[in-house]
Amino acid sequence: MALFSSSTLEIPETSNIPRHVAIVMDGNGRWAKSRLLPRVAGHKRGVDALRRTVQACVELGVEHLTVFAFSSENWRRPPDEVSLLMRLFIRVLRKDLHDMHKEGIRLKIIGDLSGFDAELQNAIQYAQALTENNTRFCLNVAANYGGRWDILQATRAMLQANPQLAANPQDIVETDLTPHLCLSCSPEPDLFIRTGGEQRISNFLLWQLAYTEFYFTDKYWPDFGKELLTEAILSYNNRERRFGRTSEQLGTPAVPARSATQ
Ligand code: FPP
Repeated sequence: MALFSSSTLEIPETSNIPRHVAIVMDGNGRWAKSRLLPRVAGHKRGVDALRRTVQACVELGVEHLTVFAFSSENWRRPPDEVSLLMRLFIRVLRKDLHDMHKEGIRLKIIGDLSGFDAELQNAIQYAQALTENNTRFCLNVAANYGGRWDILQATRAMLQANPQLAANPQDIVETDLTPHLCLSCSPEPDLFIRTGGEQRISNFLLWQLAYTEFYFTDKYWPDFGKELLTEAILSYNNRERRFGRTSEQLGTPAVPARSATQ
């Protein structure tokens, strides 16, 4: 049974403050390069930006934040940068965990954790177990994550849990799959932000972004914080979220999403 409603099965309730924000934290390397610093200096400042952004989300009333820290394709980077990023993850997990726990933040790492070394896997498991009952705010960190991988692993898990579906694929419905997706603990994102000037999803939450509003900024991730988050939310407030309906229908009682034509 899915915990949260699906934007393609029913029309979700929305408000001026997005309940869930998803961010591709891009531009760390260029931020550093423009200051003649090594790329890793940009990643370190990126951690400060993430701390500011979590704080700003809590203050503004956002309930879930999902950030893309390391994609399944980021292993293609130079080995030195990959290993520095791994060390940074471990350091941040250890340094910030108890403060996050005190603040009532639930931390979840989404992605293929089997790709990480034992030390990082243990740190992740410990952090998730410590914070799993926290309800004030949910921080999902995507690490060794890919949207295609997520849909594939969820399909495998669904068929393992319901072997009869393999023989009757016509019986498969969305709600058979969604509990097995990595992000089943959070509602679908309302707002997707990408910093750094690029305008693409980069294999982030392919399933979950079905009806998410997109916001792109040229600002580099290390410069992100409450001010830029507020700008993104102001832009979000100018969007008409129709979920397949026409403008004229908004403000009238919702019709079931299945009968909408686009
Ligand atoms: C993209 O910028 C950023 C990353 C691949 C890493 C993001 C990681 C952090 C912000 C650290 C977060 C840490 C934790 C513990 C969650 P880029 O390197 O692709 O920048 P560029 O496009 O300018 O080269």
